[in-house]
Amino acid sequence: MSAAYAALQAELQASPRRWLITGVAGFIGSNLLETLLKLNQHVVGLDNLATGKRENLAEVQGLAGEEQWDNFTFIEGDIRDPADCKRACAGVDYVLHQAALGSVPRSLEDPLATNETNITGFLNMLTAARDAAVQRFVYAASSSTYGDHPALPKVEENIGKPLSPYAVTKYVNELYAEVYARCYGFETIGLRYFNIFGRRQDPDGAYAAVIPKWFSALLQGEPIYINGDGETSRDFCYIDNTVQANLLAACTREKAALNQVYNVAVGDRTTLNDLFEQIRRNVVAVYPDARAAKPLYRDFRAGDVRHSLADIGKARRLLGYAPTHAIEAGMREAAEWYIRRFRPELLGSKNG
Ligand SMILES: NC(=O)c1ccc[n+]([C@@H]2O[C@H](COP(=O)([O-])OP(=O)(O)OC[C@H]3O[C@@H](n4cnc5c(N)ncnc54)[C@H](O)[C@@H]3O)[C@@H](O)[C@H]2O)c1
Repeated sequence: MSAAYAALQAELQASPRRWLITGVAGFIGSNLLETLLKLNQHVVGLDNLATGKRENLAEVQGLAGEEQWDNFTFIEGDIRDPADCKRACAGVDYVLHQAALGSVPRSLEDPLATNETNITGFLNMLTAARDAAVQRFVYAASSSTYGDHPALPKVEENIGKPLSPYAVTKYVNELYAEVYARCYGFETIGLRYFNIFGRRQDPDGAYAAVIPKWFSALLQGEPIYINGDGETSRDFCYIDNTVQANLLAACTREKAALNQVYNVAVGDRTTLNDLFEQIRRNVVAVYPDARAAKPLYRDFRAGDVRHSLADIGKARRLLGYAPTHAIEAGMREAAEWYIRRFRPELLGSKNG
């Protein structure tokens, strides 16, 4: 763990703050909740359960102590409603804004819905947080903002043209955050997440991300599809690294770190073919039948970039970010969660 993150955790425990997590019932939001409650923080969560799940909150409840769970207030509400945003921001020190409609394909099918939540909802939240005099607004930006810019690795200041409606919305978030900093002196930090993975990432539905989808398929003997030739690559980033980046961004006292955007990734590139091998290896360890599984190749998907790799130097320098999990270590932890979710009997027999 980085020295900066260890020091921050000790500081938070000694002097708890009040946090708002939007999208708290989702994948990243529920992981932020888990860490903050374990650090004895007070947390308000806002979610309309569009893609988030009550089971995610129930799982966190089981992992947190009873006293820590009492420090959590859930508001079932919608960021498209300014009144809900205002209510959620009352008395809050830091906002970690995660609520959005994710997925490039979803945005291609329904750009209006993506726009409403990701742009109007974002602006509602930014405004409510400013009006409530929240100290800092940290928000989920996206690597999709690099669009068609060909350079690798991606550095924050060089972006291309967006390749999907989703990418437009995430870029507009950055523009609004910058303008609120400039015009109202409001402190914001954007975290351009690369492909985040780990426990509680949803394996179900048409818009599921590749890692949960493949764990689910391999464990249940279903076919696995690779869009394109499998040499498409991504900088897959384990959830614990993402949580670290959020907490560091919310609490940094470094003036130069404010009102900036940062890549949140590991700085390592994995092709889909390699990813498949890694996932299969982890599954085969408990379920040898999966050894025979082979991916089926189909067309490339519209709106996808070919390669993605982050330069994480800026987050290292200004936030003290130091990823604790490379992809293999993250994958082992993720594997355990998906096996428990889909085939708990396999863990039982392995453990004895
Ligand atoms: N997972 C990734 O790899 C990744 C990559 C880049 C950016 N992001 C961004 O990170 C954030 C979190 O993503 P995630 O992967 O946890 O997705 P997720 O779908 O699991 O979580 C999003 C949460 O927001 C909630 N939400 C959606 N619309 C809402 C609304 N109108 N009002 C209130 N709540 C609403 C959903 O119910 C859900 O709980 C999103 O902003 C996403 O765009 C994620």
